[in-house]
Amino acid sequence: MNLFDVASRAVRILPAETAHRFTINALKTGLAKPSFEIDDPRLAVKLRRAGLHLPNPIGLAAGFDKNAEVFSQMLAFGFGLTECGTVTPRPQDGNPRPRLFRLTQDHAVINRMGFNNEGIGMFVRRLSSAPRSIGIVGANVGANKDSEDRIADYVAGVKAVWSYSSYVTINISSPNTPGLRGLQDRSALEELLGRIGDAAREMESAVKNRPVFLKVAPDLDDKAIQDIAEVGLAQDWLAGLIVSNTTIDRPETLASAYKRETGGLSGAPLLEKSTRILAAFHAVVGDRLDLIGAGGITSAGDVIAKLRAGAQAVQLYSALVFHGPMLVRRIKADLIAVMEAEGLTSLSAFRTA
Ligand SMILES: Cc1cc2nc3c(=O)[nH]c(=O)nc-3n(C[C@H](O)[C@H](O)[C@H](O)COP(=O)(O)O)c2cc1C
Repeated sequence: MNLFDVASRAVRILPAETAHRFTINALKTGLAKPSFEIDDPRLAVKLRRAGLHLPNPIGLAAGFDKNAEVFSQMLAFGFGLTECGTVTPRPQDGNPRPRLFRLTQDHAVINRMGFNNEGIGMFVRRLSSAPRSIGIVGANVGANKDSEDRIADYVAGVKAVWSYSSYVTINISSPNTPGLRGLQDRSALEELLGRIGDAAREMESAVKNRPVFLKVAPDLDDKAIQDIAEVGLAQDWLAGLIVSNTTIDRPETLASAYKRETGGLSGAPLLEKSTRILAAFHAVVGDRLDLIGAGGITSAGDVIAKLRAGAQAVQLYSALVFHGPMLVRRIKADLIAVMEAEGLTSLSAFRTA
C-alpha cells in the first residue's frame, strides 16, 4: 500500500465533507503529491466534434474541484481531463450541512451541496494563472439559486471562462437547485441554448472553436431524451452531451442508513441507469454529438460498458471516495490488459465491437 492509499483510507474515517476539504488542502499544499506518467498511446481518444485529443478516456467529473483549486494535481494523478465547477457568477454557500453522505455499503454517495462555490471571479483567476500546456481542463457553469434570470447566469459563466478553459459544460441537471432541471424542458432548453449560442458566436472572436457540452440528468423519459437530442442537434456550435449527473431515484437495493437523505445519488447504483440513458441518447444522436459517459464507474469493465453504449470518453467522481485517486491508474492498466487479451489496438474498437 502506498502513501496515497494510506491517506485515502484515513480520509474515509472523517465526515464526508471534512474529508473532501482535507483532500483538497493536502493536494494544494503538496502533502499528497502525484507523479506524472505518460499514458500508453493505445488509450488516446479524440472527441471529434469538440476537437479535443485526450491522452486517455478517463475524466474527473465536476463537483470534486468546484473552485478550480487542484486541477493540475488531478491531471497528474492520471486523468485524461478534469472538469472544474460547477461555478456560479456570484459566490454562494450552498445548502446547510450535513449535505454530503457516504453510503458505504452501497458504494454510493448522496449529495445536496447546492452549488457551494467561491464565484466566477476567483475561479477564472485560478484557471488563467495555469500554463496552457498542463492538459485538458473544462469549466462547468451553473446559475445562482436566487438569480432572477438564470439563463443570464449561464451566459455570464460561458463568457467568463471561455478564454481560460479547454471546454465549457452547461450544467442544467443538478437536482439541488430547485427548478434547475426544468431547463431541460424543450422550450426552456431552446431559449437557453439560443442565448448561449449567441454568446458562443460573440466569443469566437476571442478564441475560436471552444467546445461546449450540455450535462443532462439520468431521470429522463424517452420523450425528454428525444427533445433534448433534437434541440441539441439543432445547435451547430454544440460539441456534445455529458450523460449523466446524479439521480433522484432511490433503487430498492440501497442498504445504507443514509439512503433516504434528500439529494442526488451517485456511484455504483447509478451505473446501470446512466448507461441506459447514454445508450438512448446515442441511438438518437449517433456520432453527430460527442458523448461523455458518467455515472457509477469504478472499473475498466464499467468504462468499457460506457464506450459500448456510445461514449467516446467517461468521467467519474464517487469511486474516488471509496478507492482514492490511485484508482485511475488501476483502471488504465486494466483497460490495457483487456485490450491485449482481446487483440484491440484502440479504444474505439469497443464502440463498434
Ligand atoms: C459530492 C458531489 C458533488 C457534485 N457536484 C457537481 C457539480 O457541482 N456539478 C456537476 O455537474 N455535477 C456534480 N456532481 C455529479 C458528478 O459530476 C457526476 O456526474 C455524478 O456524480 C455521476 O458520476 P459518479 O457516479 O462517478 O460520481 C457531483 C457529484 C458528487 C458526488
